[in-house]
Parts: sequence; C-alpha cells; structure tokens
Amino acid sequence: MKRVLIIGIGAGDPDHLTFQAAKAIAAADVFFVLDKGEVKGDLVRLRQHLIETHAAGPYRIVTEQDPERDRTTPAYAAAVEDWRARRAAIYGRLIREELADGQTGAFLVWGDPGLYDSTIAIVEEVADGSFEYAVVPGISSVAALTARHRTSLTQVARPVHLTTGRRLAEDGPGADDVLVMLDARTAFDGLDDFHIYWGAYLGTPDEILIEGPVAEVAEQIKQVRAEARARKGWIMDTYLLRRIRKAEHPES
Ligand SMILES: C[S@@+](CC[C@H](N)C(=O)[O-])C[C@H]1O[C@@H](n2cnc3c(N)ncnc32)[C@H](O)[C@@H]1O
Repeated sequence: MKRVLIIGIGAGDPDHLTFQAAKAIAAADVFFVLDKGEVKGDLVRLRQHLIETHAAGPYRIVTEQDPERDRTTPAYAAAVEDWRARRAAIYGRLIREELADGQTGAFLVWGDPGLYDSTIAIVEEVADGSFEYAVVPGISSVAALTARHRTSLTQVARPVHLTTGRRLAEDGPGADDVLVMLDARTAFDGLDDFHIYWGAYLGTPDEILIEGPVAEVAEQIKQVRAEARARKGWIMDTYLLRRIRKAEHPES
C-alpha cells in the first residue's frame, strides 16, 4: 500500500513546524511540490529548508507546475472548479506514477491544511483505494496572527465568522468578530465600527503588524500593504475585525 501525508508546515516561521510534522517529513520518501512560480520564491525556500532539516533518509522531490487559475473571468466558481480539476489530474498522476508500493509521499501545505487549502479535497477526490492518506495539522496564519497581536480569536462564549476578502466585500461583516483571509482588495476599508488586528508575512523576517480602530489605521494599512507588495512582488495578509463596543465609544 502507498501512503500519502498532507503535512501542515506552519505559516512562515520554520519553528512553527510541529514535532508531528517533523516526524512526518522524516517518514516521507517523495515530496510533491506544486510550483507556484518565481514570485513566491521565499515560500519555496522555506519548504526546501524544512525538508533538508527534517528528512531522515534518502528522498526525492518531484516538482510540477501549479496550473494557473483564470483570474480574468467573472465566473469565479467555474474558474476555481476548472483549476481544481486540472490540479486533481496532476495529483492523481503524481501518486500513481511517482510513488512505489510501500512508499510514503508528502504534500507540504502552508499553515494548516484544513484552512482555505484544497489539498485535502483533491487527494480525497483522487483516492481510488490504491493508497491511504492522513493529515498532519499545522500552525495556521490565524493562530500566528492572534498570537503576534497577543489577543485571542474568540471572545467569551462568542462566535467568530471566518471568511475571505471577496465575501466580506460582497456580504458585509455578518458578525461582531470576523477573521478575514485571501483579501486582495482591503475589504476592511470603511468598516469604521470595527477594531482591526492586521498582519502580513506573519512568522517571516518581513512580518508587519498593525492594530487599531479601522477608522484610524485603514489608510496606514493600505499604504504599508501597497508598498510591501510592490517591494516583494507578493503579499499574504490576514486580519481580525472586532466590533467596537458602544461603551468604549460613548460618543458614537
Ligand atoms: C490559500 S490560504 C492558505 C491558508 C493556510 N492554509 C493557513 O492555514 O494559514 C492563503 C491565505 O492565508 C493567509 N496567510 C497565509 N500565510 C500567511 C502569513 N504568513 N501571513 C499573513 N497571512 C497569511 C493569507 O490571508 C493568504 O491570503
């Protein structure tokens, strides 16, 4: 039987790697790497570093080009579905052709594999009984964000809404505590009833943290974000919005 491990590697800091993930890397014979192109070279280097540090025996790295998603079409769901199908074809072929019986293959997934990542769903889709698979949790960018801001994701007995920048822009906050990922459009702008805890490149030497009432820090975040993005060529940022309680702002 072949074995496939989907390993969460944390959100940027090599020390985010858990002991369980390090053991899983040590157990792997083949690492499957979906190359996202040059712009995210830093991420590729981190993955490489983790493999070199924790691999225990001989291993192979098999790199494939990650298919491009069509970002021009307004048919967002169809474009994502098409992208997923093309990735599934690649994953299926990698497991079929690059992994021998008795071997372990590993996908190293940014953050936690259970959070806005399609690897688990794709492996489930191509599972045909010829291999078994398991998931190793990782430190997510959400955990990294709240820890670096020395705050908690949840408030006592309160729910949290986890969403994307696109949905925040389309649907509004929908809750008093909102965690936003995948935001290319700074959708927090104008949500002046909220306090924001914002973080970019969390866990890396480029980490940036900004916190404060949206009304006061939105412009600063937008400016810092645009500059950082231009400098590095890419940005990953996450933020927590927490509705400001009236008592804290009696005049409003
Ligand atoms: C495709 S999702 C993957 C999330 C990942 N599985 C996790 O657990 O963090 C990518 C989004 O995660 C967030 N993200 C991931 N790593 C980050 C980091 N180091 N700093 C800030 N945000 C990050 C950003 O919102 C980014 O747009």
